[in-house]
Amino acid sequence: MQWTPPIDPAQDDLEPLLASQGRTADWLNTDDGDPYGPSNVARWSSHQVAKQIPLRYRAAHPQEPEVRTWIADLIDRAAAEQTRRKAPVASVTAGPSLLLLGPTGVGKTYEAYGAMRELAVTGTVARWVVVTAADLYAQLQPRHGIDSEAEFQRYAKAPILLVDDLGAGGKISEFTESINFRLVNHRYENELPTLITSNVLPKDLAARLGDRVTSRLAEMCRRVVITGQDRRRAMAA
Ligand SMILES: Nc1ncnc2c1ncn2[C@@H]1O[C@H](COP(=O)(O)OP(=O)(O)O)[C@@H](O)[C@H]1O
Ligand SMILES: [Mg+2]
Repeated sequence: MQWTPPIDPAQDDLEPLLASQGRTADWLNTDDGDPYGPSNVARWSSHQVAKQIPLRYRAAHPQEPEVRTWIADLIDRAAAEQTRRKAPVASVTAGPSLLLLGPTGVGKTYEAYGAMRELAVTGTVARWVVVTAADLYAQLQPRHGIDSEAEFQRYAKAPILLVDDLGAGGKISEFTESINFRLVNHRYENELPTLITSNVLPKDLAARLGDRVTSRLAEMCRRVVITGQDRRRAMAA
């Protein structure tokens, strides 16, 4: 973690995120001289997260109350763990997961990146690894010169993981089923916070992902169903 210079909150559209956390731009840019102080961590985290967020979602801020509650619970858990370990900073290392369901275009990916951004301004460290399910399978295909097991472990062990669009696309193969199971099982067993989005209907999850994956997701995840119109088509109209 490095000292991060002041950030222009307007440039990154951080004001709504700060406001929903009860913070101000002045708070964000406070330099109390402590590299582990909450505002310095928040600037550093916002800077890191901005690099991981695709251009289209750079100003996302979450709208769903359950997403906010999830963020608040992760922060509380990180703070409790920090006290227990007498650690210099609060970091997200364990906690509940979140399953964001809804049809195409309702804003699932937007909520997910919004959550990343909002968590960043709180001053709690959250080291995200972000991937779409389709990219995950492509990256883990056994290939010459690539240690795909090491790649898998990077996702399995991520302190906080976003898997976008799980269950979308073509038929589930034995390969994708095995990746889904190993990934979800590792995160389930270690209570690693995972944010999963999917456009699979709740009633079709077990058929699509298999019983073993769906059962674990049911226990580890809070489920949020986003409804509404396809915003992409609405914007195009
Ligand atoms: N709450 C929101 N406010 C403004 N734009 C939004 C909101 N939610 C989604 N969008 C926009 O709508 C489009 C579709 O959202 P996206 O999250 O990609 O949908 P999904 O992942 O559910 O298919 C994107 O351009 C996104 O930026
Ligand atoms: Mg999406």
